[in-house]
Amino acid sequence: MRRALELAALGVGRVSPSPMVGCVVARGGGEIVGEGCYLAEGVKHAETLALEQAGARARGATAYVSLEPHAHHGRTPPCTDALIKAGVARVVAPVEDPNPLVAGRGFAHLREAGVEVKTGVLAREAERLNEKYFHSQRARRPFVHLKFATSLDGRIATRAGDSRWITGAESRERVHRLRHEYDAILVGAGTASADDPLLTDRSGLTRHRPLVRVVLDDELKLSPASRLARTARESPVIVFASERADAARTSALDACGVEVVRLAGGARDPRGVLSHLYERATQSVLVEGGATVAGALLDARLVDKVTVFVAPVLIGGRDARAAVGGEGAARLADALRLRDVEIARRGDDVEITGYPRGGSGSVGATARRADAGDAGGEAA
Ligand SMILES: NC(=O)c1ccc[n+]([C@@H]2O[C@H](COP(=O)([O-])OP(=O)(O)OC[C@H]3O[C@@H](n4cnc5c(N)ncnc54)[C@H](OP(=O)(O)O)[C@@H]3O)[C@@H](O)[C@H]2O)c1
Repeated sequence: MRRALELAALGVGRVSPSPMVGCVVARGGGEIVGEGCYLAEGVKHAETLALEQAGARARGATAYVSLEPHAHHGRTPPCTDALIKAGVARVVAPVEDPNPLVAGRGFAHLREAGVEVKTGVLAREAERLNEKYFHSQRARRPFVHLKFATSLDGRIATRAGDSRWITGAESRERVHRLRHEYDAILVGAGTASADDPLLTDRSGLTRHRPLVRVVLDDELKLSPASRLARTARESPVIVFASERADAARTSALDACGVEVVRLAGGARDPRGVLSHLYERATQSVLVEGGATVAGALLDARLVDKVTVFVAPVLIGGRDARAAVGGEGAARLADALRLRDVEIARRGDDVEITGYPRGGSGSVGATARRADAGDAGGEAA
């Protein structure tokens, strides 16, 4: 199963809005006879590729699949049919696919055909790997990951607004790998105007769909001369604005290839923005600031994962910008604490990542239950 998860992870940045899937077909004694992973829309599914490689040796073998195989006719024929036809004796899969078209039906179809099904193996790891997919399927909105860089004293810019660069080269390189995992990247009008950022994925890794750059900008302050607007034809830019936004500004951005979306609640309604993005098959959003947008999303409890890069520098100054605005917490007991925290060193900086407690980004209870029941299980 670990190998199946490794194979699935090759799909990072390539398969959204579908899940990443890996499959290993193994015979008794752990002999691997076939491997496959899902790499892009229109390409064969992981199970099909692994079964093709295994050929006749799939008969009586075990298929380890990183997610429940689907039993419905979508763009590809059902994978459960392929497993049954190949004569696989046993299917091991960590968790049900939360997609209502699949959920439980894949396992039921296999069992009806006499295939033994075992679930729960490495369920936590499997859900974590596909956290964006699981979250967007369950919550019907994109997975939101807030990322920012601060000084040791929690500032994101100097009192004069200078914010480049607080962190070192390793942290910035890491940000591009993070961007690669996401469908969209989002900033507020303040950041767009202060930093004139490009917000592209410069990881050098293959993407299936272009990274969509999103600006929350009620009054359409984004300049047609900004780097975002000037590159809108190469990589999409969507600006969310209020219904009252100026028509001339809309036309000027339109002429650059920027898509202006006017919402009834304007960009100030983050739920409205997220549901609009979800309707456009956006599975995940990386929020890169600034302080006002970060505060608004945290206050609305719409953040599913947080990454902060802390650099060993003290900015100081009463008027230097703190990392997070909004209302915040009055009592420490109400402050947003992170769980499942991971800490990595990036040059002289520290990267801290975690999931808001009680938030929907946490690995689901299903996975926790399955893990508990599977101690000493048969993970290959
Ligand atoms: N170190 C870092 O990681 C980092 C990252 C990003 C930014 N920064 C720094 O942060 C500063 C910018 O932060 P900021 O707080 O001024 O700007 P911001 O959060 O980027 O943008 C705030 C503006 O966005 C608009 N907006 C639209 N919808 C919103 C919503 N739902 N919630 C909140 N705002 C919404 C509002 O302008 P309208 O009313 O006009 O719509 C608001 O004034 C800059 O100095 C930048 O360099 C640092």
